[in-house]
Amino acid sequence: MLPPLNHLAIIMDGNGRWAQLQGKPRQAGHKKGASNVRTITNWCAKHDIGYLTLYAFSTENWNRPKTEVDFLMKLLERYLRDEAKTYHDNAIRFRAIGDIDFFSQPLKHLILDLESSTSHYTNLTQTLALNYGSRNEITRACRKIVLASPKLSDDPQEAAKALESTLANALDTADMPDVDLLIRTGGEQRLSNFLLWQASYAELAFTQTLWPDFNINELARIIEEFHSRTRRFGGL
Ligand code: IPE
Ligand code: IPE
Ligand code: MG
Repeated sequence: MLPPLNHLAIIMDGNGRWAQLQGKPRQAGHKKGASNVRTITNWCAKHDIGYLTLYAFSTENWNRPKTEVDFLMKLLERYLRDEAKTYHDNAIRFRAIGDIDFFSQPLKHLILDLESSTSHYTNLTQTLALNYGSRNEITRACRKIVLASPKLSDDPQEAAKALESTLANALDTADMPDVDLLIRTGGEQRLSNFLLWQASYAELAFTQTLWPDFNINELARIIEEFHSRTRRFGGL
């Protein structure tokens, strides 16, 4: 049995390359990737993981060809429709982070409905980052703060401390803990605008495995290795 892990985040990368290696269109990789979301999420729900946050669509992913973007939107819609039962059966809370105002009305409704119908579950909180980018999230949070024009202390240090928590509370992740372990599949070693604030002290793990091939054995191995690390948070 693995020790508990509070917040695991994953950058699910490599769907397109997985499909290419199989001589299939990129869409096939996204389809297989979506079914892997279910497998990994169910495993996390059974293994004492508090929060699982998955990067599904970035603010930069709109730059892909329209056919791919359209396919991803359809896939997301189908996933939310078909998987609703999985969330209820396993008492998994669903949440979304990112600017979902950009999505079509039907997709937005599916997201909001699943969020509210699963909001009482406490087993695992699975968060999908949808039209998510840290810079966009932080910018939206700043806008909220500016509009509220908070009264700041004249003492710069006190003001900074207060603003730090005001900002953290204005982010999409407001009531979520910081990321403990951040995994990126697909071989790239970069954050691609994901959870820059929340992963400030996360342990990082990169694997060559393409997301559709990433399985629970490898996940368990990475989590085990994570537990052997010493986290210092700037102290000694
Ligand atoms: C990740 O896989 C899924 C999304 C970004 C939607 P990619 O589509 O980025 O796959 P590669 O990196 O091209 O292989
Ligand atoms: C990051 O993957 C975004 C998601 C996994 C949703 P990308 O494939 O979009 O990132 P880059 O372009 O390689 O940085
Ligand atoms: Mg990629």
